[in-house]
Amino acid sequence: MVFEVKVHKIIFKTTFSSISKIEEFCENENIQNFCVFESQEREISKIHDMEGIPFSEIFNVDIFTKSKKESEIIKKKLQIEFKENIFDIKVEELNDCDWVDLYIKNQTPTTIENLLFYNPNCFTPIKISSSLAFGNGDHQTTKGCILMLFYLARYGFRPKSILDMGCGTGILSISASKIWDCIKDITAVDIDEDAVQITKNNFIDNGINGNVLHGSDLSCLPGVRCVDLVLCNIFKRQLEGFSKEFFKILKRAGMIVISGFIKKQYEEIDSHYLKIGFRRVHSIGIDEWLTVLYKTP
Ligand SMILES: C[S@@+](CC[C@H](N)C(=O)[O-])C[C@H]1O[C@@H](n2cnc3c(N)ncnc32)[C@H](O)[C@@H]1O
Repeated sequence: MVFEVKVHKIIFKTTFSSISKIEEFCENENIQNFCVFESQEREISKIHDMEGIPFSEIFNVDIFTKSKKESEIIKKKLQIEFKENIFDIKVEELNDCDWVDLYIKNQTPTTIENLLFYNPNCFTPIKISSSLAFGNGDHQTTKGCILMLFYLARYGFRPKSILDMGCGTGILSISASKIWDCIKDITAVDIDEDAVQITKNNFIDNGINGNVLHGSDLSCLPGVRCVDLVLCNIFKRQLEGFSKEFFKILKRAGMIVISGFIKKQYEEIDSHYLKIGFRRVHSIGIDEWLTVLYKTP
């Protein structure tokens, strides 16, 4: 697919403590393309992760937009909302090019256990055409979820039905189908129409039968009841917002894998899930990202 746009980038620095609010801001503004990464300047802070390793105080944020005007509007909103908590903010125009093509060319094959993404020469190949959707296997949260699927398989869990909420490329559903031959029923949902189409294509490319729906919450799933396994790699607020519905639609002794949050956010999410009635089973941390497995009673 050729996809040429005049991409602009808003670049700024922020403090560690502002990151979750900036993520919330992006979510509220419906900004899909942004990344937050630790500054190399590494001014060592008093904040430590669960292994006691200090985070840098300063983080870089890149927000991508499709025009200069959109960038300037968002920049102004950021300055009003975050004041001195963001600094060195600027808008840059990026050179015109085929971003999707460039992105795909720069991908290196990723292996997670015996699944291999991109390179169909060995292991169990998975063909993921990610292009505009999230989920090529590279991100720590996706990896954490897939490793959790292997963990479940190793302990003898055999799901027949799964719900993949926030499916992106459909990578989690596809991985689950390659791990378990017992899966008969897959429902994958995404708020983003591109992701829905990409998941549909990836399902076809990987020989998967599944129901792929466009939706932003569980109300788009009137027919989905009693699933064995829910997979959800999304923002903290949605993980919390969807939790009661997840509890309702899961069978007894059903499993849910959640990811998409950093270690600092874990306590809040964990107490939220425990309060609803879930039991914590296992967790996997990759860098600062956590993936947690819960079970219904
Ligand atoms: C972090 S990506 C995860 C993609 C893939 N499941 C993975 O693990 O790599 C989160 C996905 O959730 C989707 N999403 C965000 N909010 C959503 C919502 N309220 N309902 C459904 N999907 C949502 C985004 O469009 C995105 O594709």
